[in-house]
Amino acid sequence: MKNIYKNSPKNLNKAKKILKKNNIIAVPTETVYGLAGNAYSNISIKKIYKLKKRPKKNPLIIHYYNLEGLKKDANINKKFLKLYKKFSPGPLTYVLQKKKESKVSSLANANLKSIAIRFPKNVVIRNLLKQLKFPLAIPSANISSNVSPIKATDVIDEFGKKINFILDGRRSKIGLESTVVSLYGKTKILRPGAISHKKIGKILKKKISILKKAKELQSPGLLKRHYSPGIPINLNCKKTDGKAAFIVFGKKYKKARNVFNLSHNGSLKEAAKNLYKILRKIKNLKYKKINVVKIPNQDIGIAINDRLKRASR
Ligand code: TXA
Ligand code: MG
Repeated sequence: MKNIYKNSPKNLNKAKKILKKNNIIAVPTETVYGLAGNAYSNISIKKIYKLKKRPKKNPLIIHYYNLEGLKKDANINKKFLKLYKKFSPGPLTYVLQKKKESKVSSLANANLKSIAIRFPKNVVIRNLLKQLKFPLAIPSANISSNVSPIKATDVIDEFGKKINFILDGRRSKIGLESTVVSLYGKTKILRPGAISHKKIGKILKKKISILKKAKELQSPGLLKRHYSPGIPINLNCKKTDGKAAFIVFGKKYKKARNVFNLSHNGSLKEAAKNLYKILRKIKNLKYKKINVVKIPNQDIGIAINDRLKRASR
């Protein structure tokens, strides 16, 4: 397709040029695809919010190549360094105190005192970040409240011709957005993801809680309906009717036209990778209702249940 660009030195150069002009491109990451813009530029950030139809009070994650770039923008602490060593680059986002002298646009972090940062692992986005003199604000590449994209063509599904440069990085390995951990104030999980509260607790040697009722501004993205295919979803179903799309997990479910198995082998990792693919497919098949079986609430299953719950509101 015309607006999808393969990973090559020539295309990375093109991407760089577009970003330097404060324009927006779509990029792959190992979690989901994102819309990327120069984090230092108010113009870029305004474009991102407009494209996504995103409420201005919902802050963006700033993506860096390594620690060096970050040090100008956030105050780091011991907990951060321990987690960084273990999990970055990777699917973990840290909320830290923003430095007063930071050049990151205050529009990008909704004028908060904190800033969310991540070091993505996907090689294509890492190559790009390495070559830039500024970090990138990268929210997921979906219209606000829709399901996140996990491959280049999903971005076209969301934005059509509005995004004319999509950097291809194959299918996102993880398929769910990063874990967001706040290290600003009490350590807690604001959004569950591939790196569970248990894994984080093990490194920090303490019990880490998952924020249940999102207070406004703490993680505004968690407030309302989100990650939604725009179809009513019923959770913890034991059975279904022939009309609804039935999302199942494990061996015991028979194949049928309306049955969508997250993982036949009962692997939660595989289920996470398939969730958004299946939700997008069901939406495109124009089902009017979705029934979902109970998904084990452990490891990345916690993140799957989190997204399903928010999608079902
Ligand atoms: O995996 C990911 O994180 C993807 C890829 C593209 O990197 N990005 C992503 O960004 O999911 P977005 O904008 O869709 O979600 C960012 C989340 C929101 O829930 C937002 O509220 C939260 O991070 N967030 C950002 N800055 C924050 C801050 N200063 N304090 C608390 N939460 C923050
Ligand atoms: Mg998002």
